[in-house]
Amino acid sequence: MTVLFSGPVLDQLNAATNTLKKGGVPNARWHAELLLGSVLELARHELYLQATDELPVSAMVRFADVVARRSRGEPTQYLIGSTEFHGLHFKCDRRALIPRPETEHVVEAALWRLGENRGTGLKILELGTGSGCIAVTLAVHLPEAEILATDISSAALELASENAQHHRVDDRIEFRRSDLFDDVIDQYDVRVANLPYVSSLDRKSLQREIRDWEPEDALFAGPDGLAVLRATLESAPAHLRDGGQIILEIGLGQDSEVEQLAERSGRYSRPEWRNDYQGTRRVFCAHKV
Ligand SMILES: C[S@@+](CC[C@H](N)C(=O)[O-])C[C@H]1O[C@@H](n2cnc3c(N)ncnc32)[C@H](O)[C@@H]1O
Repeated sequence: MTVLFSGPVLDQLNAATNTLKKGGVPNARWHAELLLGSVLELARHELYLQATDELPVSAMVRFADVVARRSRGEPTQYLIGSTEFHGLHFKCDRRALIPRPETEHVVEAALWRLGENRGTGLKILELGTGSGCIAVTLAVHLPEAEILATDISSAALELASENAQHHRVDDRIEFRRSDLFDDVIDQYDVRVANLPYVSSLDRKSLQREIRDWEPEDALFAGPDGLAVLRATLESAPAHLRDGGQIILEIGLGQDSEVEQLAERSGRYSRPEWRNDYQGTRRVFCAHKV
């Protein structure tokens, strides 16, 4: 049975915040605001303009339900069905990883490194597209580009395709199921990716929101977390045009190993890093030799 909160908007928010705190949810107020905003179809600040309004019973029931589910660990973005990425709105559900702010640096790196070279014929490959956040954002910013976005998960590809349709870039992105490069034939100017990089040994210490709710295929990459990055660094040059570039998100603390892998392969030049908002190396960029 769902236990309803009583009172107008502000009381609902206060009660939900307490429930979420008791459920171990960090930034409980922020999550309560997002959840109530989603139920009432209001922006967070608009909730406070309607602080003394009473909620319809149907909204009270829905709010109590999502708060209870959030307290048990279900991520807010899955509950409200959307998230923001690089200023764009993305549909979000259990078919794919929730887009993360650090991944915005992959998009930034690609746009910055392409510089003026953004004309017709630009071909971009994204491996492991998930929700499609990288491919769709690049397509929005690069109206001349053609993009192939792959994933091993058919469910993720379905969601990515819905996001591409929503942003009206589905005519310039081909979504294809492929295990890494298995079904990639052509050569590309840029190869971007945020592939799995979590160590399978870290499973138990992951937040419950990630471990219990996000797709396994999107997270784990062998005991050292580098299995997929290693494979992709080895195979990428064959799929890049001369002078083509690789842009890869990596996990915390994986920078020196990734740099060494690239150096030992002898296939990359001009390595460069972009830092995340905490100032940590998160995106590896290099040219094909
Ligand atoms: C970390 S998630 C990133 C998703 C999305 N690019 C983003 O940044 O939010 C990694 C994605 O790679 C996909 N993936 C995992 N192993 C793969 C493989 N061998 N080949 C292709 N895709 C793979 C997963 O299904 C998942 O969608």
